[in-house]
Amino acid sequence: MLKIDVGYGRVGVLPEHAAALATQVAELAGVRLRGVFTHAGHGYLAESKDGVDKVARLEGERLVETAGRLREAGLALDEVSVGSTPTAAVAMRVAGVTECRPGNYVFHDASQVALGTCGVEDCALTIVATVVSVPAPDRAVVDAGSKTLSSDPLRPKGPGHGRILGRQSYLDKLSEEHGVIAVAQGETFRVGERLRILPNHACVVANLHDQLVGVSQGKVETVIRVAARGRVR
Ligand SMILES: Cc1ncc(COP(=O)(O)O)c(C=O)c1O
Repeated sequence: MLKIDVGYGRVGVLPEHAAALATQVAELAGVRLRGVFTHAGHGYLAESKDGVDKVARLEGERLVETAGRLREAGLALDEVSVGSTPTAAVAMRVAGVTECRPGNYVFHDASQVALGTCGVEDCALTIVATVVSVPAPDRAVVDAGSKTLSSDPLRPKGPGHGRILGRQSYLDKLSEEHGVIAVAQGETFRVGERLRILPNHACVVANLHDQLVGVSQGKVETVIRVAARGRVR
């Protein structure tokens, strides 16, 4: 699969250079070019749902257009593959797209909610943290810091290191093992209280933990070992 850069500016060949490179690839012995693919990660920086949808349409259209150029150059392609959670719903509907590879949608997170991809009720991964100190009326501290929640920011932008479900207060500061809550007017926290935190970026959080606890209707149903954990070398 040949990776095309449709605007993210990370890796991939630019659409205008794709046919030349694809022709070279197709001529290599033992290699069959199956198709083109892309990841529109710049959708995460769009500051409105309309902005995300525009990135998504362009993601699909640029990739289909690029596939057309490759086919005109005599290359047979099976797949035209888009993939990113915020852009998936729109990009996969562009005529000519054959595959979509979203990843984050398995859990969703606070960033997907902020981007308009989904609602809080569609999010499947939360962290249960305990309030360990209430040193001042405007400050409470939980036993979850960057080792638990990661330091990834909210996308596209915004304050906080995770959304506390059912509260207006937010996690203002993190150190490794502590999260400091800026207590909103009218809210109180007590030591020992358990809070559920929707992380900014679920992908990183899943990879920070050895296991995930599967809960349904308030009951633990399964414990999932994170197979990818510790595999970065
Ligand atoms: C190449 C590629 N495809 C697909 C994805 C999935 O993106 P998302 O997690 O936004 O669904 C990623 C994520 O980084 C990626 O790098």
